[in-house]
Amino acid sequence: MSTRVALEVFRYRPEESEEPTFQTYEVDCPDDWVLLDALNHIKNEIDGTLSFRWSCRMGVCGSCGMNVNGDPVLTCATYCKDFADGPVRIEPLAHFPVIRDLVVDSTDFMDKIESVKPWIIREDEKPLEEGEYLQSPGELLDFKQYTLCINCMLCYAACPIYSRHNVFAGPAALAIGQRYNLDSRDEGEEDRRDVIFGPEGVWECTFVGDCTRVCPKHVDPAGAIQQAKARHLAWWAKKVLMPWGTK
Ligand code: FES
Repeated sequence: MSTRVALEVFRYRPEESEEPTFQTYEVDCPDDWVLLDALNHIKNEIDGTLSFRWSCRMGVCGSCGMNVNGDPVLTCATYCKDFADGPVRIEPLAHFPVIRDLVVDSTDFMDKIESVKPWIIREDEKPLEEGEYLQSPGELLDFKQYTLCINCMLCYAACPIYSRHNVFAGPAALAIGQRYNLDSRDEGEEDRRDVIFGPEGVWECTFVGDCTRVCPKHVDPAGAIQQAKARHLAWWAKKVLMPWGTK
């Protein structure tokens, strides 16, 4: 079985025109095709000038995110047959500068991820011969969900705060910062505090929850941000009431 699907694809080739356009391609999509298969069919058989990113085709690399009929999705995890009833409009991920066609500039996203120092920070490293830093299954569960982020940027394309105010650190960066702050092996919370709890950090989030709705890995960045707020308030109250306790 196959379905004929009309794909209205965003085109932007700055060397030809400053204004983006849409180009429609009619594709016969077998039932097991995802939108990424249809785009690859267009690229290979119909129009080799179309540009888009992808790598794994299995929901792991996070590079095939696009806005489909207005919603950010992984195109390798979205079936063509679900659009049998009408045209499907494929656009670059919202809120990022477009480089060409469906390819966006991810520099701002990468800078924001780096700003939360997404690595284990130790005040003192123990010598290698003393072995690994052990962690109980319960301690792992505290943050495991937030390790599932694949940096696909869908949450930024869905976030109404980032859309209006792109200095906001954003859902993925804040969830990843929380992931490290909750890790029992980490001692770097103070090093992340300025970014995560600064003016562009968690307090900007109004808990709309669209980031969590579109997350293909069920990371729940909105939940991570609210959890971080509560953690910071507890730290702040302790600092005010028992200043010696935060030393
Ligand atoms: Fe890797 Fe879609 S191609 S997540």
